Order: sequence, then C-alpha cells, then structure tokens
Amino acid sequence: MCGIVGVLGRHEVAPLILESLKRLEYRGYDSAGIATVNAGVLDRRRAVGKLVNLSDLLVHQPLPGKAGIGHTRWATHGEPNVKNAHPHRSGPVAVVHNGIIENFRALREALALEGIGHETDTDTETIALLTRHHLDRGMTPAEAVAATLARLDGAFALAFLFDGEEDLMIGARKGSPLAVGWGEGEMFLGSDAIALAPMTDRITYLEEGDWVVITRAGAEFHDLAGNRVNRPVARIRLDQTRVDKAGHKHFMAKEIAEQPSVLGAVTAFHLLPDGTDLALPAEVDFTTADRITLVACGTGHYATQVAKYWFEQLAGIPVEIDIASEFRYRQPVLSDRGVAIFVSQSGETADTLAALRHVSGKVARTIGVVNVPTSSIARETDVALPILAGPEISVASTKGFTAQLLVLLLLALKAGQDRGRLPPAMMAQHLATLKTLPGLVARALDREADIEALAQKLAETRDALFLGRGVMFPLALEAALKLKEISYIHAEGYASGELKHGPIALIDKVMPVIVLAPRDALYDKTVSNMQEVMARQGRVILVSDRAGLDEAGPVWAQLQMPSVPDLLAPIVYAIPAQLLAYHAALARGTDVDQPRNLAKSVTVE
Ligand code: F6R
Repeated sequence: MCGIVGVLGRHEVAPLILESLKRLEYRGYDSAGIATVNAGVLDRRRAVGKLVNLSDLLVHQPLPGKAGIGHTRWATHGEPNVKNAHPHRSGPVAVVHNGIIENFRALREALALEGIGHETDTDTETIALLTRHHLDRGMTPAEAVAATLARLDGAFALAFLFDGEEDLMIGARKGSPLAVGWGEGEMFLGSDAIALAPMTDRITYLEEGDWVVITRAGAEFHDLAGNRVNRPVARIRLDQTRVDKAGHKHFMAKEIAEQPSVLGAVTAFHLLPDGTDLALPAEVDFTTADRITLVACGTGHYATQVAKYWFEQLAGIPVEIDIASEFRYRQPVLSDRGVAIFVSQSGETADTLAALRHVSGKVARTIGVVNVPTSSIARETDVALPILAGPEISVASTKGFTAQLLVLLLLALKAGQDRGRLPPAMMAQHLATLKTLPGLVARALDREADIEALAQKLAETRDALFLGRGVMFPLALEAALKLKEISYIHAEGYASGELKHGPIALIDKVMPVIVLAPRDALYDKTVSNMQEVMARQGRVILVSDRAGLDEAGPVWAQLQMPSVPDLLAPIVYAIPAQLLAYHAALARGTDVDQPRNLAKSVTVE
C-alpha cells in the first residue's frame, strides 16, 4: 500500500532508490516517482504504471543528486496519472506518503482561504502545501514539518526533502510503518527492512507518532509530543529480506513451492526439539479463557474461519470470527476473560491493527499471528507468534496462508491441552500427525502437471464455483479468492449444503463447479450436493483422494490428492487451490505477481 524510501548518500541516489522501490513494488504499482536535491535544487521524475516506466524515463531524463526520496503508489485519492504521482511538491518541499490524510478536505479549504490552491486530486499534496506555508512563515524545515504533522488526521508514513538542503531528510510515522537505516556516512528511510536490505542491515523502527530529522551524521528522533527520544538500532537478518525468484517464473510459484520447508520450519520452531510437546510462549494460555475472538482480513480471515472449527473441536471453546473492517463497527461484545487473536501476514493491515487497538485492555490477552516480526501488530499484541514464511512478495498470499493455518492449529491444540480436552496420548498422536505435513504438502505439489491441465479448462470460463463442507468451506472461499484475484475469473465459494438455498440457480452446462471433498466424515454429504449439481448438467471438477474419487464415480474432471488426516486436510487442500489459480492466470496471461488494482500490505482502512 504505497512504498516509500529516502537516501542521503555518498554517491548518486536515483539508482539506489530505484532498486529499493523495486523491492517495495509489491506495495503498489499504480505510479512511481523520485525527487532529488542536486546542487541545491529540488527536482523530480514521475511515471504512471509500473516502476519500469520510471526507470525508462530516468534513462532519457536522468535525475542527478546525492539526496533523494522515492515512492511507489497504490492510488487512494485521485486516479493513477502523472499529476497525482508522488513525490508531491510545493515550492521548496517535496514529500512522499503512505497512508491517508482523513482531514485533507478541511485543510485544503483552510489553505484556499489563504490563497493557496491545490493542483492534484490527492490528499498528500496538502502535506506539501502546509509545509511550504509554514516555511514561508520563516520556520526551519524541522519546525515546518512538526507544525504540519500537528494538523494531520489519519495515517501516514512520510519522507520530506527540501530545496537547498542536501544533507537533510525528515521522516514521520503515524499508523503506517517507517524505518531508518544506518550506513557509513549515509542514512536511509524506508517502509520496511526489505526496502533497505541492499543498503544496510542496521535499522531503527519509528514508534507510533515519531518523527525524525536525518542528516548523513545520524538521526534525531522526536516523539508525538515533540520530545527528543532514543530509539534502539536493531540488526536485521538478511536471509529474511531476500526477494529473488530463485529460478521460478514468478514469486507466486516460488512461494507455493516453498511450503513444505516453511511448514517444517513452523513445527520445528513452535514444538520442543524432540517434537513431544508444543513450545509456545508462556503467555499463550487458554486455561481461564471463556471465548476466543479471531480477527483478520482476506486470506487471513479464511485461515481464521478454518481455525474456528479447530478451536471448537479440539478445545470446546466458543469462537467468534470477523473480518477486521467490520469488527469494531458492530460493537463486539468482549469478555475480560477472552483471548483475541489477530492474524496478519504483513502485520500492518490497517483494519486489523485498528481492531487490535479496539480490544486492547478489554480482553485478557491479545495474540498476533504474523509473518513480519517487527510489524505493528507484532509489536502491539501481548504476544506475537511468527509464522516464519519468509518474505512473501507475490500479492496473492500462498505460503502465508498455510503457515497461518499451521500456527492456528498449534494454538487450537494448546487450547485443547490447557482446557483438559486433549489427554497426553491424544496430544502425542496429533503432534505425530503434524510431522507428516511437509511430506503431504510436497505430494500435493507433485500433482502440479494434473492441476495445470485442469487450469487450462478453467482458464476459458467466465465464472466458477467452489464448494466445500466443514473445514473445506473456508478452503472453497480461499480458492475462489485466489482465482479471482490473479486470473480475474469471477469465482464464488459456497458451503456445499447452502447451494440448494439459492446459488444452484447458477448451475448450467458451462460453469465449472470445483468440489473440495477429501474422504472424511462429511464426504457423503458433500458428494450428495455434488450429485445435485450433476443432475442439472453442471460441470463438476472433483478434488479428492483416491478413495473419494472412486466412490464418487464419473465426473467432468477430477484431481487426485494424497489421502490426508482430517486435521491436516485444509492445509494440504490449499495447494490445488493455489496452483489452479496460478496456472489459470498463466493461461490467461494476467500479471500473476502484481494483479491489477491490488497491493500487498493494505495500510489504509
Ligand atoms: C489475498 C491476500 C489478501 C490478504 C489481506 C490481509 O491473497 O493476500 O486478502 O490476506 O489483505 O493481509 P495481511 O495478512 O497482511 O493482514
């Protein structure tokens, strides 16, 4: 959701900023831009669309300078055109912004009364206009920025650059992440450690409300109240910031293929070394919990939907789930004995973060299930459990989803243990089952050629329906989301028993209906629903194990999965969902890693 970067360098900075923006492009790719100060003069280049367009522009119109800021945009206010592209500039100040300024209209009106007009459709330009206004009144750049920040409502990570100031950059953070990078005679700013990784592994994360004045000699941090504060420098692990495709055609393909090793790493980390018990932090304790609330967005929400079944079955505890953007607006009833779990790959999703802040102090404990250990959700929850997926660059989440599922399963097992519902022998059996997971996922991945063939059939369709029952229902929803977001085929997921209450009207001879039905306790019911589709000449693609396929008889197409223990089925069946979407998107020639209109890390509400 917009990436920002800033460099006070020893050499020309435009190539460095471009490289950083490439690593941030997963956050948005509607437009990109860079501003530098060279020989005291502020200048900028901006281009619509992907970063490559800005790169091309810079070949013809180079941008010299050793101080610069850059931006890759996911449009919120104003269509993606050059005028609305960042950096925004007003006179001597240029600014890049990630977030939304909620009171920008009121600010614009106030500025207009003073004869200061706007030129773009963006909220961000208001920040540049206000800062210029303060500079015009004789303030220093730092004073002008502080005065501007005091007037902004909403969420922002900002980087400012000033005409005539080649050794000055100012950053600010409220609601959107921002990090300072420390070099040798060079300083950096960036939305995340991934952006800064090629330049430094020494990072300071700004706290909520902080702003920072940066020169090549160092950084001066200020808190919300304007007090000088010290913030610690952390060393980041460079293996956590690698963003190459490792020989795969797309990040998505690489991330799908990584799942066996990611899942192995999750169990290795969260279980004792001999695998005989869970090794979760002491704060993860459900002994006195009277309910569990699970909150997330998108794919993370579908992971929580699966987890609801697990917590109820394994721990017998009431579970409430909600999408984060709805949660706090319905006045959820919270209990001071409740445990609230927030699931987020990025750890920065604005809706999820807002939901977390909403429950803070109102429940016994908050738990984060996150991929980025330094993220806001990781830092603001009482205890954060890493999903250890490594950087997920493809906009569509894959390894993040299965790793979230596995950590949620471990939490459900812990809840069962804490509440005396899982005697040691049963627990030992479940833990032994977990060890088979990477192998089962690898076997599901081995079906790729068959899945690719099915995806060719799917690629020709306009609509598709995914059906599942029990834990396979959220998988149907996730499969539909994956397909629509990267192939742009309209897809819906339904609980298979719900079909007859309306959606069955959609069944015809054209639309594929993909049925996810491992041979489990609910198989017979799901297959009955599948028969209802076939009786209406629907085109069924059945995804099941050998026993399930044999029992079901002839269908339009089928896909064989390994036979899996019930507990692991939702994780293993994520693989065909992901690969079907991936190959359908390839067949349709869409942009797999950067689908239209989307961005990873959604830091606006
Ligand atoms: C879909 C997808 C999104 C994210 C959602 C939440 O493939 O990736 O639906 O799951 O935007 O993001 P996080 O998990 O970062 O909070």
